[in-house]
Amino acid sequence: MTTTVPRAVAEPAGQAAGPLLPPADLAQAVGSFMRSSPVTRRWDVETAFSWSSVDGGRLTEGQRSAVAFITYIEDHLPGYFGLYARRFPLDESVDVATFVHNRELYHFTVRWAQEEDSHARALFEYQVAAGISEPDRLRDELGQEGRKPFTMPHEHAISLFAYALVHEKATQIYYQSLRSVVDEPVLMDVLGRLSKDEARHFTFFADVVERSLRLYGDQVVEPIRDVIAGFRMPLADTLRGYWRWALKIADTAHYDHTDAYEHLIRVVNRAVDARTDRVDELARFVAACRTPAAAGQAS
Ligand SMILES: [Fe+2]
Ligand SMILES: [Fe+2]
Repeated sequence: MTTTVPRAVAEPAGQAAGPLLPPADLAQAVGSFMRSSPVTRRWDVETAFSWSSVDGGRLTEGQRSAVAFITYIEDHLPGYFGLYARRFPLDESVDVATFVHNRELYHFTVRWAQEEDSHARALFEYQVAAGISEPDRLRDELGQEGRKPFTMPHEHAISLFAYALVHEKATQIYYQSLRSVVDEPVLMDVLGRLSKDEARHFTFFADVVERSLRLYGDQVVEPIRDVIAGFRMPLADTLRGYWRWALKIADTAHYDHTDAYEHLIRVVNRAVDARTDRVDELARFVAACRTPAAAGQAS
């Protein structure tokens, strides 16, 4: 038996490279995000779902496996949050202007993290209620993966945002797709809530990428291109059995992360009125990176 050695991707140290959005622009994106989840529309794990009525017998083996898989992805939140803490420092390692940008971003990041943490907890509760796992075993299994590093090789802030744009949209699409084949009402509720949150997360990152393209144009094209050129979903390089498992979950419900590229192309198209050759080339490149089947569906 072979063991997979996790590969931590080399990560640049400290503050992510600019150009950074002016704090007032970023504040507008943060404000829109906050307004998309007023108190009346928020939910919590304890009261939003009828855990006692979960009927695990209505799940196929593939669906149980898909729930276990997405729990790992969501539960890695400390890794994702840590990345933002390292690359957008809130201390004296950055100058005041950069700190002000990072402080504004942090308003988003903490709310985002709180929501992703609720996703992890909801899926944990679901696994227990459905008899997919039991608490001690699940905590231990999640801990074994959760302690592995999560790093990103990208130098630029815009790359981190473009990466998040794609993976949030890909996750939203997968949750919707899984929800459409599931026949267990509580899991449908959970996936419905999660996919709505992922859609809002996508919208924030799309807003930031669009504003950056409008302000900086060609200057941010290359760092966005780099993201698509080397794209891997979170944990693809570290989660034990990731690729085999990813194929299995794609068997259970349609999954192709390149479906999300179309949404990045739309952001690029929306952002740039007077298109330049480099921006055109970026849109063509992203389209060409889609898998043939996904590209065919979109046409
Ligand atoms: Fe999530
Ligand atoms: Fe998300």
